[in-house]
Amino acid sequence: MFSCLTRDASSAVPITPVTKAALPQWLEAHPDKREWLNVIGFKAEPNSFAFLPSSKGEPTRVLAGVAEGESIWAFAALPASLPEGVYSIDAELDDAHATAAALGWSLGSYAFTEYKAPKRAPAALVWPQHADQAEVDRITKGVFLARDLINTPTEDMGPDHLIDAGAAIAKDAGARVRILRGDELLEQNYPTIHAVGRASTRAPGLLDFTWGDDTAPKVTLVGKGVCFDTGGLNIKPREGMLQMKKDMGGAAVVLGLAQALMAAGTPVRLRVLIPAVENSIAGNAFRPLDIIRTRAGKTVEIGNTDAEGRLILCDALSEADSEKPELLIDCATLTGAARIALGPEVQAFFCDDDNVASKLHQAGATVGDPMWRLPIWRPYRKLIDGKCADLNNVAATPFAGSVIAALYLGEFVSAATAWVHVDLMAANVNSRPGRPEGGEATGLRALYRYIRDRFG
Ligand code: BES
Ligand code: ZN
Ligand code: ZN
Repeated sequence: MFSCLTRDASSAVPITPVTKAALPQWLEAHPDKREWLNVIGFKAEPNSFAFLPSSKGEPTRVLAGVAEGESIWAFAALPASLPEGVYSIDAELDDAHATAAALGWSLGSYAFTEYKAPKRAPAALVWPQHADQAEVDRITKGVFLARDLINTPTEDMGPDHLIDAGAAIAKDAGARVRILRGDELLEQNYPTIHAVGRASTRAPGLLDFTWGDDTAPKVTLVGKGVCFDTGGLNIKPREGMLQMKKDMGGAAVVLGLAQALMAAGTPVRLRVLIPAVENSIAGNAFRPLDIIRTRAGKTVEIGNTDAEGRLILCDALSEADSEKPELLIDCATLTGAARIALGPEVQAFFCDDDNVASKLHQAGATVGDPMWRLPIWRPYRKLIDGKCADLNNVAATPFAGSVIAALYLGEFVSAATAWVHVDLMAANVNSRPGRPEGGEATGLRALYRYIRDRFG
């Protein structure tokens, strides 16, 4: 499906992976190459490569430096750094390594080309033997979908666009789709989603789809779909606002994950809820110290209109929780505090179930999509007591911002057997092999692996 992976091996240049430690041994076996590699300074540094020319000067082989024990990202720099052409990996790879190598290669071939032509095509790889091609395709498709949704500027990715994109994926997979827009949110009792989104010229909405056998275990995914977060009347400063087209990253990850799970035929009853809004500024915007009666009936006092993610999520979570799912997961670019704690490369998650938490952590480590658990620290719950309402959407303290947000969301989850809240980055700050700068499906592959291992 992705042109960077091909079945046509006829003109492929073989790649020999070599670690720094193994290079001397390789040179022993190929003494005629020693001088050439010396001259060009090839040291088998990870992500470096060297062409070995024939006596006629034709490229006969590529030596590629790989890190010791590296799996998914071992070859991921090559599609963008090798010259255009077709290559094959000339090494014995078991099923898992072959699949990981192919996936790393395909993730490294991504470019966001909608508004700017790419400078070059990625180098192509012949499918390594034993790679699970369908699995690589599914995961690549899910990750690319999420990246594209996040990278698309808000003008072209408003609430309706996001909902329509999600509905198209749902319909493709044969899911049952329900969409609420604008005042229908009030009629159907989603007051927080409406309140946050009502100041935009583009109406807020809720995408709700259900897929799979009704008797299968219920897995429900909820994604924060704030298409742009100005902060509302508590307006963000310029630096903070600049990144906020990515504030629908949770929704993008959920949609990419759902697409992959459905394509794999995962034996679950999947439900996806995407509240989609723009947190805008206008005369009809919700205000600090307004009080909203949430779907669950609890009242919430608005301490800060910039803590809007937890507001739209709380009504979606109430609906999700009402079905008592076996597993309820929400994904959201919820707090700057999670980034302060863990930086951009590790995704924060919250879960009171030790077993689920340790397996999710392990799944992330296995697939190279790191997830770290933070505590839902109950003693802090009192910090979000409202003065004139049941809750405040923020605490007065600057500490533990991501924990406070998780505690707020937890007020709306009681019936689900297990709940995981993921506070994610949804972007690569710098380019790394397989992970170009820009929108990223952080957490998607960890969650996919966890759900497939548990239910698949
Ligand atoms: N979308 C932001 C969180 C965010 C900021 C994610 C930067 C990724 C990068 C969220 O809506 C927000 O503004 N949160 C506030 C909460 C605060 C007002 C309690 C924050 O984190 O500062
Ligand atoms: Zn905000
Ligand atoms: Zn936000």
